[in-house]
Amino acid sequence: MKRIAVLTSGGDCSGMNAAIRAVVRSGLSAGLDVVGIKKGYRGLIDRDYFMMNTKSVSNTLQRGGTFLQSARCKEMMETAGQDLAASNLKGLGVEGLVVIGGDGSMRGAKTLMDRGIKVIGIPASIDNDIPFTDMSLGVDTALNNIIYAVDCLKDTASSHDRAFIVEVMGRDCGYLTLVAAIACGAEHALIPEVPYNIGDICDNLRKRYREGRDNSIIMVAEGVASAQEISEQIKHHIRFESRIMVLGHYQRGGSPTAFDRLLGSRFGQGAVDALLNSQSGKMVGLAGNQLTFTDFDKVFNAPMRPLNETMVKLAHKLDI
Ligand code: F6P
Repeated sequence: MKRIAVLTSGGDCSGMNAAIRAVVRSGLSAGLDVVGIKKGYRGLIDRDYFMMNTKSVSNTLQRGGTFLQSARCKEMMETAGQDLAASNLKGLGVEGLVVIGGDGSMRGAKTLMDRGIKVIGIPASIDNDIPFTDMSLGVDTALNNIIYAVDCLKDTASSHDRAFIVEVMGRDCGYLTLVAAIACGAEHALIPEVPYNIGDICDNLRKRYREGRDNSIIMVAEGVASAQEISEQIKHHIRFESRIMVLGHYQRGGSPTAFDRLLGSRFGQGAVDALLNSQSGKMVGLAGNQLTFTDFDKVFNAPMRPLNETMVKLAHKLDI
């Protein structure tokens, strides 16, 4: 193998730059040429790419987002787009491709593998819904962002005897909401995986008010309801004044944590090693601090990464 390429696709997350950097520097040190593709599969179709050198990735590690930029590309869902993407790669002499993104991005990579390109996927999504990895890239930074925001909210909430309903992004997965609720000391975590009862929540909020508590934090996963909806449901029942906060895309940005910088570096280097060892159609993952490589088919056929039951139990024991 003489030439590889790298792209970031789907929703961005912190740590992607660390992964790109590791792909580029590991590739160059193994004597490979490395092509950077801009804006995910869109750049592959539009031939928006450039040759990378070690300086191309200088001063990127500490930055959030992806300096290669990302996009969600409809053409890549169709045969004509997949054919064009594969032929552009072949025209460039690219034999191996590293795709950094979520499940949809890896499905795109599989179509290129079916057309003769070796591909390795790096799981990157704040949602932590991708199976066969303990953590996806970007999750830890998103958690830290949420914690920072909720700590700030608690300061102002306590000063005014207020309840805050905080909407947490995470698609259909409750991981971020649950784990952040534990780490923030929230009172409630409403997640898609566990049914909730609004009456019980209101009873608890009333009890807290009677006990003289000065704030309450209710975290709601976007896959359950909007903060506005939950606020409407409880507003007639509680004596706390309530406010809402929608964290949204704020969760995805910011300088990556040490964990995400290391994870991105390990995933990037592991992906290049796998290509050099003629592996293809696999996703690199983390299991018990070891890198693993799982066949795309296994990843695609598995259900969404299940919630860790230990975390659910811990939340209950902590009265969440
Ligand atoms: O999958 C990552 C994610 O940030 C989800 O948490 C969220 O639902 C979605 O992407 C938002 O997508 P977009 O960036 O297209 O608005």
